[in-house]
Amino acid sequence: MMRALTFHGTHDVRVDTVDDPEIINPRDAIIRVTSTAICGSDLHLYDGVIPGVLPGDVLGHEFMGEVVETGPMSTLEKGQRVVVPFTISCGKCFHCSLQEFAACDNSNPAEKQDMSETMYGHAASGLFGYSHMTGGYSGGQAEYVRVPFSDVGPIVVPDHLDDDQVLFLSDILPTGWMAAENAQIQPDDTVAVWGCGPVGLFAIQSALAMGAAQVIAIDHYPHRLELARALGAKVVNFRESNVLEALMEMSGGIGVDAVIDAVGMEAHGFAMENILDVVKQKVGIGADRASALRQALMAVRKGGRVSVPGVYGGLADKFPLGALMEKGLQLRTGQTHVQRYMKDLLSRIEEGELDTTFLISHRLALEDAAEGYRNFKEQQDTWTKVVLKPGMVTATN
Ligand SMILES: NC(=O)c1ccc[n+]([C@@H]2O[C@H](COP(=O)([O-])OP(=O)(O)OC[C@H]3O[C@@H](n4cnc5c(N)ncnc54)[C@H](O)[C@@H]3O)[C@@H](O)[C@H]2O)c1
Ligand SMILES: [Zn+2]
Ligand SMILES: [Zn+2]
Repeated sequence: MMRALTFHGTHDVRVDTVDDPEIINPRDAIIRVTSTAICGSDLHLYDGVIPGVLPGDVLGHEFMGEVVETGPMSTLEKGQRVVVPFTISCGKCFHCSLQEFAACDNSNPAEKQDMSETMYGHAASGLFGYSHMTGGYSGGQAEYVRVPFSDVGPIVVPDHLDDDQVLFLSDILPTGWMAAENAQIQPDDTVAVWGCGPVGLFAIQSALAMGAAQVIAIDHYPHRLELARALGAKVVNFRESNVLEALMEMSGGIGVDAVIDAVGMEAHGFAMENILDVVKQKVGIGADRASALRQALMAVRKGGRVSVPGVYGGLADKFPLGALMEKGLQLRTGQTHVQRYMKDLLSRIEEGELDTTFLISHRLALEDAAEGYRNFKEQQDTWTKVVLKPGMVTATN
């Protein structure tokens, strides 16, 4: 038996004793988790706005650790230190062969796909710790985790880099990078990023690394905006300023060249349309609160580029389709094809080009994971990123 963070209902997660994972398929490996993080995507589960999460499900999709068991077809070896991508991908299907790893056709078992196929036209692929719509796989906020297709996903990391430096290769670093890549940044661009959570911060860092002339960060939390400023961004606090007016002024009256929505389906905001979204999401008649995305589509210049790493799960009201078409915008989005970026980003970390540790605000024992969720949700400003350490002794007992 082992300890793991399990879902019990909206705003109710607990560390329970559950069965140890076992090798099921020849390509599996079992990892002893040394570090695992809580993600903004986990908050969508915590807030009960993603369907298909059941009581007892083990959450967590950002994790790394030591290989302790391997199936006969795993290419990993016991004792290796690996970071595991949150996307589960077979490496062999049509999509994997195009490096569209987050669209893998083989990682979500057929009997679990129905709802996603109805909602999206095609079945979603497998993700760790992220609802039965994406396979119902047990996640990595646990002492041990089974990693399917372990010959494709995990990347072995060198010992001279510590966990904090490489953990975010599992999700948010590639997600920020792909967000900037999807914004197709040109050297003289002004890029605006909504949301200064971990994804937004890494998107800002990536956009600057790709040569953007000016990056403007939008949020309402002073500390998070300060982190963005420290990276080299200009900041707009949407509680204090009119975002659209500020962006027009900062882009010489043309509008920004590219926009990145790193907020997703639970946008905050005080405009009437967002308040209506909140009510609809609560009563279950409109899944997605798209106010940041609406604003981004208004702010981007004609012919500009729209990148959406923020997660949306269902339908959005009042989506400005007219702005998208009439302004001739390009839109790119998606769950991140993590495996496509891990190797390159690992070498950028090794060379010191990218810093991954600046946003970690709290390191807790796995036993204190519920407290981590509560604070990451309720004290967002200062709890920027929580890393859980299964080996650490709890502070509360
Ligand atoms: N595409 C992917 O593969 C992928 C991977 C990881 C995370 N995500 C998604 O990225 C999003 C961000 O993740 P995170 O971990 O940074 O989350 P987070 O919750 O820590 O950060 C979100 C930030 O957005 C800000 N915000 C809310 N409303 C806003 C508005 N109207 N305008 C500007 N800012 C606003 C919040 O104040 C907060 O700082 C989430 O939707 C998450 O699910 C996607
Ligand atoms: Zn994540
Ligand atoms: Zn595949």
